[in-house]
Amino acid sequence: MVKKLGSLLQLLVVGLVMAETVSGADEFSRYDFPPGFVFGAGTSAYQVEGAANEDGRTPSIMDTWAHSDSVITSGANGDIACDQYHKYKEDVQLMAEMGLDAYRFSISWSRLIPNGRGPVNPKGLQYYNNLINELVSDGIEPHVTLHHFDLPQALEDEYGGWISQNIVKDFVEYADVCYRMFGDRVKYWTTFNEANIFSMAGYDLGFLPPTRCSSPFGYFNCTRGDSSLEPYLAAHNILLSHASATRLYRKKYQNIQKGYVGLNLLSFHSVPATNKTEDVIAAQRTNDFFMGWFVEPLVHGDYPEVMKKNAGSRLPSFTALESQRVKGSFDFFGVNFYIATYVKDNSEGLNIEPRDYKADMAVEWQFTQGNASSTNRLLPSFEIPLTPWGLQGVLELFKQNYGNPPVFIHENGQRMQRNTTLEDWPRIQCLQEHISALLDSVRNGSNAKGYFTWSLLDVFELLDGFRSSFGLYYVDLDDPGLRRYPKLSAEWYSHFLKGGSITPNAGIELKGNWSSLSSAQVMK
Ligand SMILES: *[C@@H]1O[C@H](CO)[C@@H](O)[C@H](O)[C@H]1NC(C)=O
Ligand SMILES: *[C@@H]1O[C@H](CO)[C@@H](O)[C@H](O)[C@H]1NC(C)=O
Ligand SMILES: *[C@@H]1O[C@H](CO)[C@@H](O)[C@H](O)[C@H]1NC(C)=O
Ligand SMILES: *[C@@H]1O[C@H](CO)[C@@H](O)[C@H](O)[C@H]1NC(C)=O
Ligand SMILES: *[C@@H]1O[C@H](CO)[C@@H](O)[C@H](O)[C@H]1NC(C)=O
Ligand SMILES: *[C@@H]1O[C@H](CO)[C@@H](O)[C@H](O)[C@H]1NC(C)=O
Repeated sequence: MVKKLGSLLQLLVVGLVMAETVSGADEFSRYDFPPGFVFGAGTSAYQVEGAANEDGRTPSIMDTWAHSDSVITSGANGDIACDQYHKYKEDVQLMAEMGLDAYRFSISWSRLIPNGRGPVNPKGLQYYNNLINELVSDGIEPHVTLHHFDLPQALEDEYGGWISQNIVKDFVEYADVCYRMFGDRVKYWTTFNEANIFSMAGYDLGFLPPTRCSSPFGYFNCTRGDSSLEPYLAAHNILLSHASATRLYRKKYQNIQKGYVGLNLLSFHSVPATNKTEDVIAAQRTNDFFMGWFVEPLVHGDYPEVMKKNAGSRLPSFTALESQRVKGSFDFFGVNFYIATYVKDNSEGLNIEPRDYKADMAVEWQFTQGNASSTNRLLPSFEIPLTPWGLQGVLELFKQNYGNPPVFIHENGQRMQRNTTLEDWPRIQCLQEHISALLDSVRNGSNAKGYFTWSLLDVFELLDGFRSSFGLYYVDLDDPGLRRYPKLSAEWYSHFLKGGSITPNAGIELKGNWSSLSSAQVMK
Protein backbone atom coordinates (compact mmCIF):
# COMPACT_ATOMS: atom_id res chain seq x y z
CA MET A 1 0.00 0.00 0.00
CA VAL A 2 2.62 2.49 1.09
CA LYS A 3 5.00 1.65 -1.72
CA LYS A 4 2.27 1.88 -4.28
CA LEU A 5 1.22 5.19 -2.81
CA GLY A 6 4.74 6.58 -3.07
CA SER A 7 4.90 5.87 -6.74
CA LEU A 8 1.40 7.22 -7.27
CA LEU A 9 2.46 10.48 -5.72
CA GLN A 10 5.57 10.70 -7.85
CA LEU A 11 3.43 10.19 -10.89
CA LEU A 12 1.05 12.86 -9.74
CA VAL A 13 3.86 15.38 -9.42
CA VAL A 14 4.81 14.56 -12.98
CA GLY A 15 1.17 14.98 -13.94
CA LEU A 16 0.88 18.35 -12.28
CA VAL A 17 4.02 19.61 -13.95
CA MET A 18 2.58 18.52 -17.26
CA ALA A 19 -0.69 20.22 -16.48
CA GLU A 20 1.11 23.43 -15.71
CA THR A 21 2.62 23.50 -19.12
CA VAL A 22 -0.85 23.47 -20.64
CA SER A 23 -1.73 27.14 -20.73
CA GLY A 24 -5.38 28.02 -20.79
CA ALA A 25 -7.36 31.23 -20.81
CA ASP A 26 -8.99 30.31 -17.53
CA GLU A 27 -5.91 29.22 -15.67
CA PHE A 28 -6.01 30.44 -12.08
CA SER A 29 -4.09 30.29 -8.84
CA ARG A 30 -4.76 31.36 -5.28
CA TYR A 31 -3.04 34.67 -6.05
CA ASP A 32 -6.02 35.59 -8.22
CA PHE A 33 -8.07 35.82 -5.00
CA PRO A 34 -7.95 39.00 -2.88
CA PRO A 35 -5.15 39.19 -0.30
CA GLY A 36 -6.19 37.51 2.95
CA PHE A 37 -8.61 35.12 1.26
CA VAL A 38 -8.42 31.95 3.36
CA PHE A 39 -8.18 28.36 2.15
CA GLY A 40 -8.63 25.55 4.63
CA ALA A 41 -10.20 22.20 5.46
CA GLY A 42 -12.58 21.11 8.17
CA THR A 43 -13.81 18.44 10.58
CA SER A 44 -16.04 18.39 13.66
CA ALA A 45 -15.44 17.14 17.18
CA TYR A 46 -17.57 13.99 17.34
CA GLN A 47 -16.73 13.06 13.76
CA VAL A 48 -12.94 13.18 14.20
CA GLU A 49 -11.82 13.19 17.82
CA GLY A 50 -12.70 9.76 19.17
CA ALA A 51 -11.81 9.34 22.86
CA ALA A 52 -15.54 9.67 23.43
CA ASN A 53 -15.41 8.29 26.95
CA GLU A 54 -11.98 9.49 27.99
CA ASP A 55 -10.71 12.14 30.36
CA GLY A 56 -14.09 13.19 31.68
CA ARG A 57 -16.03 13.69 28.45
CA THR A 58 -19.72 12.80 28.69
CA PRO A 59 -22.06 11.85 25.81
CA SER A 60 -23.62 14.39 23.50
CA ILE A 61 -26.86 13.90 21.59
CA MET A 62 -24.67 12.75 18.70
CA ASP A 63 -23.22 9.91 20.77
CA THR A 64 -26.72 8.84 21.75
CA TRP A 65 -27.94 8.99 18.16
CA ALA A 66 -24.96 7.06 16.77
CA HIS A 67 -25.37 4.38 19.42
CA SER A 68 -29.07 3.95 18.85
CA ASP A 69 -29.84 1.44 16.14
CA SER A 70 -29.63 4.03 13.43
CA VAL A 71 -30.52 3.04 9.92
CA ILE A 72 -28.35 5.89 8.72
CA THR A 73 -25.01 5.12 10.34
CA SER A 74 -25.53 1.37 9.95
CA GLY A 75 -24.24 0.57 13.39
CA ALA A 76 -21.11 2.73 13.22
CA ASN A 77 -20.30 5.42 15.76
CA GLY A 78 -17.66 8.04 16.54
CA ASP A 79 -16.27 6.48 19.73
CA ILE A 80 -12.86 6.19 18.08
CA ALA A 81 -13.42 8.03 14.78
CA CYS A 82 -9.99 9.27 13.57
CA ASP A 83 -8.65 9.50 17.14
CA GLN A 84 -7.58 13.07 16.57
CA TYR A 85 -7.76 13.50 20.34
CA HIS A 86 -4.52 11.52 20.54
CA LYS A 87 -3.15 12.19 17.08
CA TYR A 88 -3.66 15.97 16.80
CA LYS A 89 0.07 16.68 16.50
CA GLU A 90 0.39 14.36 13.55
CA ASP A 91 -2.72 15.84 11.94
CA VAL A 92 -1.52 19.42 12.37
CA GLN A 93 1.72 18.30 10.75
CA LEU A 94 -0.22 17.02 7.75
CA MET A 95 -2.06 20.34 7.54
CA ALA A 96 1.19 22.29 7.71
CA GLU A 97 2.84 20.17 5.03
CA MET A 98 -0.20 20.53 2.82
CA GLY A 99 -0.06 24.31 3.24
CA LEU A 100 -3.49 24.95 4.81
CA ASP A 101 -4.08 28.56 5.89
CA ALA A 102 -6.77 27.51 8.33
CA TYR A 103 -8.38 24.54 10.06
CA ARG A 104 -12.10 24.50 10.82
CA PHE A 105 -12.95 22.28 13.78
CA SER A 106 -15.49 22.25 16.56
CA ILE A 107 -15.26 22.11 20.33
CA SER A 108 -17.08 19.28 22.04
CA TRP A 109 -19.20 21.09 24.63
CA SER A 110 -19.53 17.92 26.73
CA ARG A 111 -15.73 17.47 26.75
CA LEU A 112 -15.14 21.02 27.94
CA ILE A 113 -18.11 21.23 30.34
CA PRO A 114 -19.27 17.66 30.98
CA ASN A 115 -22.59 18.51 32.63
CA GLY A 116 -23.41 21.15 30.04
CA ARG A 117 -22.97 23.87 32.65
CA GLY A 118 -20.88 24.32 35.72
CA PRO A 119 -17.30 23.16 36.20
CA VAL A 120 -14.86 23.14 33.30
CA ASN A 121 -13.09 19.81 32.69
CA PRO A 122 -9.33 20.53 32.99
CA LYS A 123 -8.45 17.70 30.57
CA GLY A 124 -10.87 19.04 27.98
CA LEU A 125 -9.46 22.52 28.41
CA GLN A 126 -5.95 21.18 28.03
CA TYR A 127 -6.80 19.29 24.86
CA TYR A 128 -8.19 22.33 23.05
CA ASN A 129 -5.34 24.51 24.29
CA ASN A 130 -2.88 21.94 22.93
CA LEU A 131 -4.63 21.70 19.57
CA ILE A 132 -4.92 25.46 19.19
CA ASN A 133 -1.30 26.04 20.23
CA GLU A 134 -0.12 23.42 17.78
CA LEU A 135 -2.08 25.07 14.96
CA VAL A 136 -0.92 28.56 15.81
CA SER A 137 2.71 27.51 16.07
CA ASP A 138 2.44 26.15 12.53
CA GLY A 139 0.82 29.33 11.26
CA ILE A 140 -2.60 27.70 10.79
CA GLU A 141 -5.56 29.89 11.77
CA PRO A 142 -8.15 28.13 13.93
CA HIS A 143 -11.79 28.64 12.85
CA VAL A 144 -13.87 27.24 15.68
CA THR A 145 -17.48 26.05 15.77
CA LEU A 146 -19.22 25.85 19.13
CA HIS A 147 -22.14 23.54 18.31
CA HIS A 148 -21.88 20.92 15.58
CA PHE A 149 -24.98 18.72 16.20
CA ASP A 150 -23.55 17.79 19.61
CA LEU A 151 -25.44 19.29 22.53
CA PRO A 152 -24.48 17.65 25.85
CA GLN A 153 -26.95 14.83 26.48
CA ALA A 154 -27.25 16.06 30.08
CA LEU A 155 -29.04 19.22 28.89
CA GLU A 156 -31.24 17.28 26.47
CA ASP A 157 -32.31 15.06 29.38
CA GLU A 158 -32.72 17.87 31.87
CA TYR A 159 -35.00 20.24 29.97
CA GLY A 160 -35.24 19.12 26.35
CA GLY A 161 -32.23 20.99 24.99
CA TRP A 162 -32.97 23.41 22.17
CA ILE A 163 -36.74 23.30 22.53
CA SER A 164 -36.44 25.02 25.92
CA GLN A 165 -35.50 28.66 26.44
CA ASN A 166 -33.31 27.47 29.34
CA ILE A 167 -30.74 26.62 26.70
CA VAL A 168 -29.95 30.27 25.97
CA LYS A 169 -28.28 30.90 29.30
CA ASP A 170 -26.31 27.64 29.23
CA PHE A 171 -25.10 28.21 25.67
CA VAL A 172 -23.95 31.72 26.45
CA GLU A 173 -22.03 30.49 29.50
CA TYR A 174 -20.35 27.83 27.37
CA ALA A 175 -19.48 30.43 24.73
CA ASP A 176 -18.11 32.67 27.49
CA VAL A 177 -15.75 29.89 28.64
CA CYS A 178 -14.54 29.40 25.06
CA TYR A 179 -13.96 33.11 24.39
CA ARG A 180 -12.20 33.52 27.74
CA MET A 181 -9.99 30.46 27.47
CA PHE A 182 -9.18 30.41 23.74
CA GLY A 183 -10.07 33.86 22.39
CA ASP A 184 -6.52 35.17 22.68
CA ARG A 185 -5.67 32.78 19.82
CA VAL A 186 -9.03 32.09 18.13
CA LYS A 187 -10.40 34.95 16.01
CA TYR A 188 -13.15 33.18 14.08
CA TRP A 189 -16.10 31.82 16.04
CA THR A 190 -19.08 30.10 14.48
CA THR A 191 -21.86 29.56 17.00
CA PHE A 192 -23.82 26.87 15.10
CA ASN A 193 -23.03 24.53 12.26
CA GLU A 194 -25.95 24.08 9.83
CA ALA A 195 -28.51 25.64 12.16
CA ASN A 196 -31.17 25.04 9.50
CA ILE A 197 -30.44 21.36 8.92
CA PHE A 198 -30.11 20.73 12.64
CA SER A 199 -33.59 22.21 13.18
CA MET A 200 -35.16 20.43 10.24
CA ALA A 201 -33.49 17.01 10.44
CA GLY A 202 -33.40 16.89 14.24
CA TYR A 203 -36.97 18.07 14.97
CA ASP A 204 -39.11 17.58 11.85
CA LEU A 205 -37.76 14.66 9.81
CA GLY A 206 -36.12 13.18 12.89
CA PHE A 207 -33.20 11.35 11.33
CA LEU A 208 -30.38 13.38 12.91
CA PRO A 209 -29.86 14.09 16.61
CA PRO A 210 -31.85 14.54 18.72
CA THR A 211 -34.18 12.50 16.39
CA ARG A 212 -37.42 14.12 17.46
CA CYS A 213 -40.44 14.02 15.18
CA SER A 214 -44.12 13.15 15.17
CA SER A 215 -46.01 10.73 12.97
CA PRO A 216 -46.66 10.86 10.03
CA PHE A 217 -43.82 13.29 9.33
CA GLY A 218 -40.59 11.60 10.38
CA TYR A 219 -38.37 9.55 8.07
CA PHE A 220 -38.31 6.74 10.63
CA ASN A 221 -40.47 5.86 13.62
CA CYS A 222 -41.25 8.86 15.73
CA THR A 223 -41.41 8.11 19.42
CA ARG A 224 -41.24 11.67 20.75
CA GLY A 225 -41.39 15.18 19.39
CA ASP A 226 -43.72 17.42 17.40
CA SER A 227 -42.81 18.03 13.76
CA SER A 228 -45.35 20.83 13.48
CA LEU A 229 -43.94 22.92 16.29
CA GLU A 230 -40.49 21.90 17.40
CA PRO A 231 -38.40 22.72 14.31
CA TYR A 232 -39.57 26.34 14.67
CA LEU A 233 -39.07 26.33 18.41
CA ALA A 234 -35.54 24.91 18.24
CA ALA A 235 -34.58 27.37 15.51
CA HIS A 236 -35.97 30.26 17.55
CA ASN A 237 -33.94 29.29 20.61
CA ILE A 238 -30.87 28.81 18.42
CA LEU A 239 -31.30 32.33 17.05
CA LEU A 240 -31.72 33.78 20.55
CA SER A 241 -28.68 31.81 21.76
CA HIS A 242 -26.62 32.95 18.81
CA ALA A 243 -27.62 36.58 19.30
CA SER A 244 -26.81 36.48 23.03
CA ALA A 245 -23.47 34.80 22.46
CA THR A 246 -22.55 37.40 19.83
CA ARG A 247 -23.69 40.21 22.11
CA LEU A 248 -21.53 38.86 24.91
CA TYR A 249 -18.51 38.69 22.61
CA ARG A 250 -19.04 42.26 21.47
CA LYS A 251 -19.46 43.62 24.98
CA LYS A 252 -16.73 41.73 26.73
CA TYR A 253 -14.14 40.48 24.26
CA GLN A 254 -14.21 41.96 20.77
CA ASN A 255 -12.28 45.14 21.64
CA ILE A 256 -9.42 43.17 23.09
CA GLN A 257 -9.48 39.96 21.09
CA LYS A 258 -10.43 41.53 17.74
CA GLY A 259 -12.27 38.46 16.49
CA TYR A 260 -15.52 37.75 14.64
CA VAL A 261 -18.69 35.76 15.30
CA GLY A 262 -20.88 34.14 12.66
CA LEU A 263 -23.54 31.50 12.02
CA ASN A 264 -23.34 28.60 9.59
CA LEU A 265 -26.11 27.28 7.32
CA LEU A 266 -26.35 24.59 4.70
CA SER A 267 -27.54 25.88 1.36
CA PHE A 268 -29.00 23.64 -1.28
CA HIS A 269 -29.48 26.70 -3.49
CA SER A 270 -32.90 26.08 -5.00
CA VAL A 271 -33.83 26.81 -8.57
CA PRO A 272 -37.20 26.23 -10.27
CA ALA A 273 -37.53 22.86 -11.98
CA THR A 274 -39.59 24.47 -14.76
CA ASN A 275 -40.33 27.98 -15.92
CA LYS A 276 -43.88 27.84 -14.60
CA THR A 277 -44.61 30.86 -12.42
CA GLU A 278 -45.60 28.72 -9.45
CA ASP A 279 -42.29 26.86 -9.60
CA VAL A 280 -40.32 30.10 -9.82
CA ILE A 281 -42.16 31.30 -6.70
CA ALA A 282 -41.60 27.89 -5.08
CA ALA A 283 -37.85 28.27 -5.53
CA GLN A 284 -37.92 31.67 -3.83
CA ARG A 285 -40.03 30.19 -1.06
CA THR A 286 -37.52 27.36 -0.59
CA ASN A 287 -34.69 29.86 -0.20
CA ASP A 288 -36.83 31.76 2.33
CA PHE A 289 -37.51 28.58 4.32
CA PHE A 290 -33.95 27.19 4.20
CA MET A 291 -31.85 30.34 4.34
CA GLY A 292 -34.21 33.20 5.17
CA TRP A 293 -35.35 31.34 8.32
CA PHE A 294 -32.04 32.35 9.92
CA VAL A 295 -30.60 35.03 7.66
CA GLU A 296 -33.66 37.34 7.65
CA PRO A 297 -33.80 37.61 11.45
CA LEU A 298 -30.06 38.31 11.58
CA VAL A 299 -30.13 40.83 8.74
CA HIS A 300 -33.61 42.36 9.11
CA GLY A 301 -34.78 41.36 12.60
CA ASP A 302 -37.69 39.08 11.65
CA TYR A 303 -38.72 35.87 9.87
CA PRO A 304 -39.65 35.92 6.17
CA GLU A 305 -43.29 36.87 5.51
CA VAL A 306 -44.02 33.59 3.72
CA MET A 307 -42.95 31.60 6.79
CA LYS A 308 -45.23 33.66 9.02
CA LYS A 309 -48.06 33.11 6.59
CA ASN A 310 -47.63 29.35 6.08
CA ALA A 311 -46.68 28.37 9.65
CA GLY A 312 -48.99 30.87 11.35
CA SER A 313 -48.92 30.79 15.13
CA ARG A 314 -46.61 27.75 15.13
CA LEU A 315 -43.76 30.11 14.22
CA PRO A 316 -42.64 31.90 17.40
CA SER A 317 -42.43 35.67 17.20
CA PHE A 318 -39.68 37.96 18.42
CA THR A 319 -40.43 40.59 21.01
CA ALA A 320 -39.32 44.08 20.00
CA LEU A 321 -36.24 43.75 22.20
CA GLU A 322 -35.35 40.29 20.86
CA SER A 323 -35.75 41.47 17.30
CA GLN A 324 -33.47 44.42 17.99
CA ARG A 325 -30.84 42.12 19.53
CA VAL A 326 -31.01 39.45 16.86
CA LYS A 327 -30.75 41.99 14.05
CA GLY A 328 -27.13 42.61 13.11
CA SER A 329 -25.75 39.97 15.50
CA PHE A 330 -23.18 38.59 13.07
CA ASP A 331 -19.84 39.49 11.55
CA PHE A 332 -20.04 36.83 8.83
CA PHE A 333 -22.07 33.90 7.56
CA GLY A 334 -20.72 30.41 7.06
CA VAL A 335 -22.19 28.50 4.12
CA ASN A 336 -21.92 24.79 3.48
CA PHE A 337 -22.58 24.04 -0.16
CA TYR A 338 -22.67 20.66 -1.87
CA ILE A 339 -25.45 20.71 -4.43
CA ALA A 340 -28.19 22.77 -6.01
CA THR A 341 -31.76 21.49 -5.97
CA TYR A 342 -34.59 21.83 -8.45
CA VAL A 343 -37.93 22.57 -6.85
CA LYS A 344 -41.55 22.27 -7.84
CA ASP A 345 -44.53 23.93 -6.27
CA ASN A 346 -46.62 21.81 -3.91
CA SER A 347 -48.98 24.46 -2.57
CA GLU A 348 -51.87 22.01 -2.49
CA GLY A 349 -50.22 20.55 0.59
CA LEU A 350 -51.05 23.78 2.41
CA ASN A 351 -54.67 22.66 2.62
CA ILE A 352 -53.73 19.68 4.76
CA GLU A 353 -53.72 19.71 8.59
CA PRO A 354 -51.62 19.13 10.53
CA ARG A 355 -48.51 20.25 8.67
CA ASP A 356 -44.85 20.03 9.51
CA TYR A 357 -42.08 22.49 8.57
CA LYS A 358 -41.56 20.69 5.28
CA ALA A 359 -45.25 20.83 4.36
CA ASP A 360 -45.26 24.54 5.22
CA MET A 361 -42.47 24.98 2.67
CA ALA A 362 -44.89 23.46 0.15
CA VAL A 363 -42.38 22.25 -2.43
CA GLU A 364 -40.96 19.06 -3.78
CA TRP A 365 -37.26 19.08 -4.35
CA GLN A 366 -34.95 16.90 -6.39
CA PHE A 367 -31.28 16.78 -7.29
CA THR A 368 -31.38 15.94 -10.95
CA GLN A 369 -33.65 17.96 -13.15
CA GLY A 370 -36.66 15.87 -14.07
CA ASN A 371 -35.52 12.82 -12.15
CA ALA A 372 -38.38 11.77 -9.93
CA SER A 373 -36.44 8.90 -8.37
CA SER A 374 -34.26 11.30 -6.39
CA THR A 375 -37.19 13.40 -5.16
CA ASN A 376 -36.89 14.52 -1.56
CA ARG A 377 -33.81 12.46 -0.77
CA LEU A 378 -31.25 14.35 1.24
CA LEU A 379 -28.27 13.47 -0.89
CA PRO A 380 -28.00 11.69 -4.18
CA SER A 381 -26.46 8.26 -3.98
CA PHE A 382 -22.70 8.50 -3.68
CA GLU A 383 -20.96 10.90 -5.96
CA ILE A 384 -22.64 14.27 -5.83
CA PRO A 385 -23.47 15.78 -9.25
CA LEU A 386 -21.43 18.96 -9.55
CA THR A 387 -23.39 22.22 -9.67
CA PRO A 388 -20.76 24.94 -9.10
CA TRP A 389 -23.21 27.49 -10.53
CA GLY A 390 -25.28 26.78 -7.41
CA LEU A 391 -22.45 28.09 -5.23
CA GLN A 392 -22.50 31.26 -7.32
CA GLY A 393 -26.26 31.39 -6.87
CA VAL A 394 -25.98 31.28 -3.05
CA LEU A 395 -23.41 34.05 -3.11
CA GLU A 396 -25.70 36.09 -5.36
CA LEU A 397 -28.54 35.52 -2.88
CA PHE A 398 -26.39 36.95 -0.09
CA LYS A 399 -25.29 39.80 -2.31
CA GLN A 400 -28.69 40.77 -3.69
CA ASN A 401 -31.06 39.99 -0.79
CA TYR A 402 -28.96 40.24 2.35
CA GLY A 403 -26.60 43.17 1.84
CA ASN A 404 -23.52 41.22 0.70
CA PRO A 405 -22.12 40.28 4.15
CA PRO A 406 -18.76 38.52 4.50
CA VAL A 407 -19.28 34.80 3.73
CA PHE A 408 -16.99 31.87 4.36
CA ILE A 409 -17.65 28.74 2.35
CA HIS A 410 -17.26 26.43 5.32
CA GLU A 411 -17.87 23.14 3.57
CA ASN A 412 -17.72 21.86 0.02
CA GLY A 413 -16.44 18.57 -1.23
CA GLN A 414 -17.13 15.30 -2.95
CA ARG A 415 -18.53 12.13 -1.52
CA MET A 416 -17.10 8.80 -2.61
CA GLN A 417 -17.23 5.20 -1.46
CA ARG A 418 -14.94 5.08 1.51
CA ASN A 419 -11.79 3.14 0.73
CA THR A 420 -12.02 2.09 -2.85
CA THR A 421 -9.22 4.29 -4.16
CA LEU A 422 -6.68 6.95 -3.30
CA GLU A 423 -7.00 8.28 -6.84
CA ASP A 424 -9.99 10.46 -6.07
CA TRP A 425 -10.36 12.28 -9.37
CA PRO A 426 -14.01 13.17 -8.79
CA ARG A 427 -12.95 15.05 -5.65
CA ILE A 428 -10.21 16.94 -7.51
CA GLN A 429 -12.72 17.89 -10.16
CA CYS A 430 -15.15 19.07 -7.49
CA LEU A 431 -12.57 21.28 -5.76
CA GLN A 432 -11.34 22.69 -9.03
CA GLU A 433 -14.78 23.57 -10.37
CA HIS A 434 -16.01 25.11 -7.14
CA ILE A 435 -12.89 27.14 -6.44
CA SER A 436 -12.98 28.39 -10.02
CA ALA A 437 -16.68 29.31 -9.70
CA LEU A 438 -15.93 31.03 -6.40
CA LEU A 439 -13.24 33.13 -8.08
CA ASP A 440 -15.78 34.24 -10.69
CA SER A 441 -18.19 35.25 -7.92
CA VAL A 442 -15.50 37.19 -6.07
CA ARG A 443 -14.59 38.98 -9.29
CA ASN A 444 -18.32 39.71 -9.72
CA GLY A 445 -18.54 41.49 -6.38
CA SER A 446 -19.31 38.74 -3.86
CA ASN A 447 -17.95 39.36 -0.38
CA ALA A 448 -16.72 35.76 0.06
CA LYS A 449 -13.71 35.63 2.37
CA GLY A 450 -12.62 32.02 2.37
CA TYR A 451 -13.12 28.41 1.30
CA PHE A 452 -12.85 25.28 3.40
CA THR A 453 -13.18 21.82 1.96
CA TRP A 454 -14.99 19.09 3.86
CA SER A 455 -13.13 17.17 5.06
CA LEU A 456 -9.50 16.98 6.09
CA LEU A 457 -9.73 13.27 6.93
CA ASP A 458 -12.21 10.50 6.22
CA VAL A 459 -14.30 11.14 9.32
CA PHE A 460 -17.38 9.46 10.79
CA GLU A 461 -19.97 10.79 8.35
CA LEU A 462 -23.35 12.01 9.48
CA LEU A 463 -25.34 10.57 6.64
CA ASP A 464 -23.76 7.12 6.53
CA GLY A 465 -21.13 6.41 9.12
CA PHE A 466 -18.02 4.98 7.48
CA ARG A 467 -19.57 3.91 4.19
CA SER A 468 -18.80 7.15 2.42
CA SER A 469 -15.91 9.56 2.68
CA PHE A 470 -15.14 13.17 1.86
CA GLY A 471 -11.54 13.27 3.10
CA LEU A 472 -8.33 14.50 1.54
CA TYR A 473 -6.74 11.77 3.65
CA TYR A 474 -7.84 8.18 3.91
CA VAL A 475 -7.78 6.78 7.45
CA ASP A 476 -7.15 3.04 7.59
CA LEU A 477 -9.64 1.79 10.16
CA ASP A 478 -8.14 -1.70 10.06
CA ASP A 479 -4.81 -0.35 11.29
CA PRO A 480 -4.78 -0.01 15.08
CA GLY A 481 -2.64 3.12 14.55
CA LEU A 482 -5.31 4.56 12.21
CA ARG A 483 -2.67 5.54 9.73
CA ARG A 484 -3.48 8.42 7.37
CA TYR A 485 -2.77 8.19 3.62
CA PRO A 486 -2.94 11.23 1.33
CA LYS A 487 -5.29 10.90 -1.60
CA LEU A 488 -4.53 12.62 -4.88
CA SER A 489 -6.89 15.41 -3.81
CA ALA A 490 -4.52 16.22 -0.93
CA GLU A 491 -1.69 16.58 -3.43
CA TRP A 492 -3.83 18.64 -5.77
CA TYR A 493 -4.98 20.96 -2.98
CA SER A 494 -1.43 21.32 -1.68
CA HIS A 495 -0.25 22.28 -5.15
CA PHE A 496 -2.96 24.95 -5.24
CA LEU A 497 -2.33 26.15 -1.67
CA LYS A 498 1.36 26.60 -2.40
CA GLY A 499 0.55 28.87 -5.32
CA GLY A 500 0.60 26.40 -8.20
CA SER A 501 -1.56 27.31 -11.14
CA ILE A 502 -4.66 25.34 -12.00
CA THR A 503 -5.92 24.80 -15.48
CA PRO A 504 -9.61 24.00 -15.51
CA ASN A 505 -10.13 20.46 -16.76
CA ALA A 506 -6.47 19.65 -16.18
CA GLY A 507 -7.74 17.06 -13.75
CA ILE A 508 -9.61 15.39 -16.54
CA GLU A 509 -6.67 15.62 -18.92
CA LEU A 510 -4.46 14.26 -16.21
CA LYS A 511 -6.87 11.42 -15.72
CA GLY A 512 -6.33 10.36 -19.31
CA ASN A 513 -2.59 10.40 -18.88
CA TRP A 514 -2.84 9.09 -15.38
CA SER A 515 -4.72 5.94 -16.29
CA SER A 516 -2.13 4.80 -18.78
CA LEU A 517 0.77 5.67 -16.49
CA SER A 518 -0.68 4.09 -13.39
CA SER A 519 -1.76 0.91 -15.11
CA ALA A 520 1.75 0.63 -16.52
CA GLN A 521 3.05 1.10 -13.04
CA VAL A 522 0.73 -1.52 -11.61
CA MET A 523 1.91 -4.02 -14.21
CA LYS A 524 5.51 -3.58 -13.04
C1 LIG B 1 -41.06 1.17 12.96
O1 LIG B 1 -42.05 0.56 13.75
C2 LIG B 1 -42.68 -0.55 13.12
C3 LIG B 1 -43.80 -1.01 14.02
O2 LIG B 1 -43.41 -1.04 15.36
C4 LIG B 1 -41.62 -1.63 12.87
O3 LIG B 1 -42.20 -2.72 12.20
C5 LIG B 1 -40.51 -1.04 12.00
O4 LIG B 1 -39.46 -1.96 11.85
C6 LIG B 1 -39.94 0.22 12.62
N1 LIG B 1 -39.00 0.84 11.68
C7 LIG B 1 -37.81 1.31 12.04
C8 LIG B 1 -36.98 1.90 10.94
O5 LIG B 1 -37.37 1.27 13.17
C1 LIG C 1 -36.57 28.58 -18.86
O1 LIG C 1 -36.48 29.57 -19.82
C2 LIG C 1 -35.17 29.90 -20.22
C3 LIG C 1 -35.19 31.08 -21.17
O2 LIG C 1 -36.33 31.04 -21.98
C4 LIG C 1 -34.53 28.66 -20.84
O3 LIG C 1 -33.18 28.94 -21.21
C5 LIG C 1 -34.53 27.54 -19.82
O4 LIG C 1 -34.02 26.34 -20.38
C6 LIG C 1 -35.94 27.28 -19.32
N1 LIG C 1 -35.86 26.34 -18.22
C7 LIG C 1 -36.61 25.26 -18.14
C8 LIG C 1 -36.39 24.40 -16.95
O5 LIG C 1 -37.42 24.96 -18.97
C1 LIG D 1 -32.06 9.35 -11.79
O1 LIG D 1 -31.62 9.00 -10.50
C2 LIG D 1 -31.17 7.68 -10.38
C3 LIG D 1 -30.87 7.40 -8.92
O2 LIG D 1 -30.36 8.51 -8.26
C4 LIG D 1 -29.96 7.48 -11.30
O3 LIG D 1 -29.53 6.16 -11.21
C5 LIG D 1 -30.36 7.80 -12.72
O4 LIG D 1 -29.22 7.73 -13.55
C6 LIG D 1 -30.95 9.20 -12.81
N1 LIG D 1 -31.47 9.44 -14.14
C7 LIG D 1 -31.21 10.56 -14.80
C8 LIG D 1 -31.87 10.67 -16.15
O5 LIG D 1 -30.49 11.43 -14.37
C1 LIG E 1 -12.47 -1.14 2.97
O1 LIG E 1 -12.22 -1.26 4.35
C2 LIG E 1 -12.89 -2.34 4.95
C3 LIG E 1 -12.62 -2.27 6.44
O2 LIG E 1 -11.74 -1.25 6.77
C4 LIG E 1 -12.40 -3.65 4.33
O3 LIG E 1 -13.10 -4.72 4.89
C5 LIG E 1 -12.66 -3.59 2.83
O4 LIG E 1 -12.13 -4.75 2.22
C6 LIG E 1 -12.02 -2.36 2.23
N1 LIG E 1 -12.36 -2.25 0.83
C7 LIG E 1 -11.48 -1.94 -0.11
C8 LIG E 1 -12.01 -1.88 -1.50
O5 LIG E 1 -10.32 -1.70 0.12
C1 LIG F 1 -22.86 39.06 -11.34
O1 LIG F 1 -23.52 40.04 -10.56
C2 LIG F 1 -24.71 40.54 -11.10
C3 LIG F 1 -25.23 41.62 -10.17
O2 LIG F 1 -25.41 41.08 -8.87
C4 LIG F 1 -25.72 39.42 -11.30
O3 LIG F 1 -26.88 39.91 -11.94
C5 LIG F 1 -25.10 38.31 -12.12
O4 LIG F 1 -25.99 37.20 -12.19
C6 LIG F 1 -23.79 37.86 -11.50
N1 LIG F 1 -23.17 36.83 -12.31
C7 LIG F 1 -22.82 35.65 -11.82
C8 LIG F 1 -22.18 34.71 -12.76
O5 LIG F 1 -22.99 35.35 -10.65
C1 LIG G 1 -1.59 14.08 -21.71
O1 LIG G 1 -0.32 14.69 -21.71
C2 LIG G 1 0.08 15.21 -22.96
C3 LIG G 1 1.46 15.81 -22.78
O2 LIG G 1 2.34 14.80 -22.43
C4 LIG G 1 -0.91 16.23 -23.49
O3 LIG G 1 -0.54 16.65 -24.77
C5 LIG G 1 -2.29 15.64 -23.52
O4 LIG G 1 -3.23 16.63 -23.86
C6 LIG G 1 -2.65 15.06 -22.14
N1 LIG G 1 -3.99 14.50 -22.10
C7 LIG G 1 -4.41 13.36 -22.68
C8 LIG G 1 -5.85 13.02 -22.48
O5 LIG G 1 -3.69 12.64 -23.32
